[in-house]
Amino acid sequence: MVKLQEIIRNLRNDFTSYTLDEKSALKNPYKQFESWMAHAIEAQAEEPNAMTLATVNKKGQPDARVVLLRDFDSKGFTFFTNYQSHKGKEMAANSKVCLNFFWTELQRQVRILGVIEKLPAKASDSYFNTRPRESQIGAWASHQSEVFASRETLEA
Ligand SMILES: Cc1cc2nc3c(=O)[nH]c(=O)nc-3n(C[C@H](O)[C@H](O)[C@H](O)COP(=O)(O)O)c2cc1C
Repeated sequence: MVKLQEIIRNLRNDFTSYTLDEKSALKNPYKQFESWMAHAIEAQAEEPNAMTLATVNKKGQPDARVVLLRDFDSKGFTFFTNYQSHKGKEMAANSKVCLNFFWTELQRQVRILGVIEKLPAKASDSYFNTRPRESQIGAWASHQSEVFASRETLEA
């Protein structure tokens, strides 16, 4: 039987479908992002607005997880989360973060480095109000990143 590690070592994908050169790159990185995001949506990429958010804790240990982009403009990239989660606490202590989008279908990634800022409560509330009822209840009931005593507690 071929070992999984060997299969992984031999995985190859020729990234030849798209190129990036200085002539085609836009001067404004936000415009470039907008164009690539539009392309990802058009190409029906799986979860085109999914992005990896990296944070750093007090000991300098980085951590990363996927969150969903909900808005963007030249002022920043917006996502919503629980302030009491691991990432919430890490960002409160260290505002330096980075984001990474990877669109397999386009053979492209985007890396964004910056600092986090809380949106005004009004903006969070207005997003919350647009969410389906089940998602609202889920967000309200969720103790993100916390350990549950049992599956039953979680279901309850
Ligand atoms: C596709 C996908 C989208 C997600 N979107 C969000 C999101 O928008 N906000 C969020 O807080 N967590 C989101 N999560 C869950 C996070 O990845 C993570 O598990 C959770 O927020 C707890 O992270 P933390 O313990 O590092 O704080 C998403 C997970 C996946 C797989």
